[in-house]
Amino acid sequence: MKDHKTALVTGSNRGIGLAVVKQLAQEGFTVILTSRKPEDGKKVLLSMPENVYYHQLDITNNQSVNAIKDYVEKEFGRLDILVNNAGINYDTWQNTLNADLENVQDTINTNLIGPWRMALAFIPLMQKHNYGRIVNVSSGAGALEGMKGGTPGYGISKAALNALTLKLADELSRHDILVNSVCPGWVRTDMGGSEAPRSLEKGAETIVWAALLPSGGPSGKFFRDKKEIPF
Ligand SMILES: NC(=O)c1ccc[n+]([C@@H]2O[C@H](COP(=O)([O-])OP(=O)(O)OC[C@H]3O[C@@H](n4cnc5c(N)ncnc54)[C@H](OP(=O)(O)O)[C@@H]3O)[C@@H](O)[C@H]2O)c1
Repeated sequence: MKDHKTALVTGSNRGIGLAVVKQLAQEGFTVILTSRKPEDGKKVLLSMPENVYYHQLDITNNQSVNAIKDYVEKEFGRLDILVNNAGINYDTWQNTLNADLENVQDTINTNLIGPWRMALAFIPLMQKHNYGRIVNVSSGAGALEGMKGGTPGYGISKAALNALTLKLADELSRHDILVNSVCPGWVRTDMGGSEAPRSLEKGAETIVWAALLPSGGPSGKFFRDKKEIPF
């Protein structure tokens, strides 16, 4: 079993997830970088420091989630930080009136059920050590306050992810397991596009901050730029 505290980031072969891996590794954590396609993650791993490990992970697939759970238990014996970063489908091409519901269902499967599946897999290990930080990477598009039309699958899936944050935080309130949602802002990634004002490093910053919250810190909250925002 390795001594360092252990963190896992979903969807971390590119984009914000990869930036989170780099920052957590710099903080001295043992970090598990994950990707759907092994070749994508293994290629990225080559340029990572030695405290970064790799495992395949598709959060929509039970077998894949069970496999990484077994790997973490066997190799590290604990998981201190789970960053539910993987997300898909900023569906600007449709609205709520003409939505393709199969597409919406796929989006909910990845953006809500995936993080939920990961939480179910790893919370027992966190409870065993009475320590955990779960960061659900959400979006202002999922805030119910001031919610407008457009991007229906994405917005509704992120609103539901925020609901998952609230429910997990409440049900884990007797443990030192903090669960929060973070909006990274509009970030230059494949999803955010090249016009986005924020760098990858800036997008990762508040996610890492929420992953490092001290005991007694906030739980069941929604943050952007390290400040609470309305759900
Ligand atoms: N970029 C923004 O402006 C912005 C704003 C607000 C919120 N966010 C949120 O921030 C998070 C990261 O976004 P990003 O901009 O970095 O996106 P991205 O560049 O499109 O990267 C998404 C990552 O998620 C992975 N992924 C997708 N489905 C997966 C699955 N089923 N299992 C495991 N991994 C999966 C992708 O893997 P593949 O390489 O295999 O596709 C990729 O590594 C998302 O949750 C997004 O909703 C982004």
